[in-house]
Amino acid sequence: MKLVKLLANLGYGSRSQVERFLRQGAVTDLDGKILGSRDFPPHASILFKGEPLDAPGPLTLMFHKPAGYTCSTDDPGDTIYDLLPARYALRNPILSPVGRLDKDTTGLLLMTDDGQLLHRLIRPKSEVAKVYQVTLDRPIEGHEAPLFASGELVLRGEERPLLPAALEVLGDKEARITLSEGRYHQVRRMFAAAGNHVVALKRIAIGELRLPDDLAEGEWRTLEAEELALLSRKSSAAP
Ligand code: URA
Repeated sequence: MKLVKLLANLGYGSRSQVERFLRQGAVTDLDGKILGSRDFPPHASILFKGEPLDAPGPLTLMFHKPAGYTCSTDDPGDTIYDLLPARYALRNPILSPVGRLDKDTTGLLLMTDDGQLLHRLIRPKSEVAKVYQVTLDRPIEGHEAPLFASGELVLRGEERPLLPAALEVLGDKEARITLSEGRYHQVRRMFAAAGNHVVALKRIAIGELRLPDDLAEGEWRTLEAEELALLSRKSSAAP
């Protein structure tokens, strides 16, 4: 791939902006030699304004989503892309969230440009479980776990029952719930159906991949190969 196209696909600018950067000498090799549009060195030896280039695709990021940010640029207000370098919203192929989290939900969000991975993790029959930590408005009464596990709960406005979900009660108003599907506002609507109200929701794992303790809210990093491999394993937590 030509250098101009490579940089444009990585979101460093439009083709004409990238051409301008090249003319200005912003793109060099590791020895500081200015690269031109006809040069084609190995990816790892290209610097943009002195910094190594972002990784080429397929790229998958792990992100600790804070509350108050939506996952789509179609929504008004702050979006998760505001917390990433601006060029990440301009990459081609696009970096998409792997299953959206609500504006007020926090926790583990993956972003990827790998279409196959995206499909495998979000398709309706995905065997990759998603685990959420839930804080409730009122105490858990005891009927919730069998209701969620029944495979018979039909959410308001829907016809198809939910797949069984596992509820682990952690305290009076605290629980962990494991889902193997991802319907709109699913956890909040499940607890509403059970007569309660979710006051805080955090996704803590996708399959065997857990949100690391050292990844603070708003922080992100690229996924390592071993972490990607964890996403290929069917979660032992799946109900
Ligand atoms: N369920 C919800 O209700 N909201 C989320 O963000 C994710 C799962």
